[in-house]
Amino acid sequence: MIMAVSFSKIGQKLTTRSGILELMDDLGSAMTTDRPLNMLGGGNPAHIPACNELWRRRMEEILSNGAEFERMVANYDTPQGNDDFLKSIAAYLKAEYSWDVGPENIAVTNGSQSAFFYLFNLLSGEMPDGRVRKILFPLVPEYIGYADQGLHPQSYESVPAAIEERGAHRFKYHINFDALSIGTDIGALCVSRPTNPTGNVITDGEVMRLSAMAKAAGVPLLIDNAYGAPFPNILFADTHLHWEDHIILGMSLSKIGLPSVRTGVILASPEIVQAVSAVNAIVSLSNSTLGQVITAPLIADGTLRRLSTETIMPFYRERSRKAMEWLDAALADVPYRIHESEGALFLWVWFPGLPVSSMELYRRLKERDTLVIPGEYFFFGSGTFAGNHSRECIRLTYSQDEDSVREGIRIIGEEVRNLYS
Ligand SMILES: Cc1ncc(COP(=O)(O)O)c(C=O)c1O
Repeated sequence: MIMAVSFSKIGQKLTTRSGILELMDDLGSAMTTDRPLNMLGGGNPAHIPACNELWRRRMEEILSNGAEFERMVANYDTPQGNDDFLKSIAAYLKAEYSWDVGPENIAVTNGSQSAFFYLFNLLSGEMPDGRVRKILFPLVPEYIGYADQGLHPQSYESVPAAIEERGAHRFKYHINFDALSIGTDIGALCVSRPTNPTGNVITDGEVMRLSAMAKAAGVPLLIDNAYGAPFPNILFADTHLHWEDHIILGMSLSKIGLPSVRTGVILASPEIVQAVSAVNAIVSLSNSTLGQVITAPLIADGTLRRLSTETIMPFYRERSRKAMEWLDAALADVPYRIHESEGALFLWVWFPGLPVSSMELYRRLKERDTLVIPGEYFFFGSGTFAGNHSRECIRLTYSQDEDSVREGIRIIGEEVRNLYS
């Protein structure tokens, strides 16, 4: 007889069929199936030959360089990270941005996904005095991967974006500062920039205003820079990176083309760095070392910065341009708007008045071997849009094989046209 297991409240929260689980399941199956699929879901970065050649060259160097390989695979690092990597990235950020930072401002985690899980639960939930604090997302739609990370049931507050329509078929989200206030029940603010799912990059002015508000309220501002400068620098808008003591800047090695090495990085005050290191010790003892050893010298000598600016960014900018062109052609006779593409790997398409939910559109597209992500998942927290906007959007990834992206977009055009007619 199979025993029925009872899960705790936290266990139930972590085992519900979350959006991120569906997304990663779809992604994993698409990457292993032999069936031809149009993979426009998921967030896997592209295989860019110049990047893969560099990782291969570094691995060969590591293997042939004395005992470097054995040191990499046969030792635990400290819970904060690999010493050479911490020094290398701190020195680089100090030189590049003139920030007063050192290794004490850097913590490594097993992917930046883990860093956000730790930070949300360090900064929200029940406080020692019994009051509940929340994470405030100043602009939703926001990254699906945050949606189920807060363990307390009232962990999240959010503010729906203000929509600026541009021309006949474009739009851009802005932070609705009129609706944004930081009450005493807020433990931190969080925004991804560039934003997954929309490709939005909130403006420098918006960042400065958020930063000033967070500082005045005495709470941290988390800026998730997984797609931003200095690497992978998948940024098409002319914007700047900002950091101060109360900002926790998240970075990742995933989108430069190393998602499997599971390396996330935060730049923060020493107090936050020590807290994240303490959680690392409890959750996983220490981090995976591979990505840190591969990239430490590439960060120090500027190779990663150059690769990002000269190869990775132009690659995605061109992919984005083509995908938008294909979408404009495929959707010519239906109502649609595409969010301005300012960075990251995604296009966010809004179908005003879509006759079914985007979840139903997702199912119909999946039937035709075309995977996208339904927009519903990206609207979480307390804030809700007036009308149906949150059921009228889908996210497309343009990082995978060009022919399948083009074919997927053609099928999306057909399905959406059928629905409107
Ligand atoms: C905005 C954003 N933040 C964080 C992550 C997590 O990335 P990783 O854990 O691979 O560093 C992702 C992954 O897609 C993302 O899109």
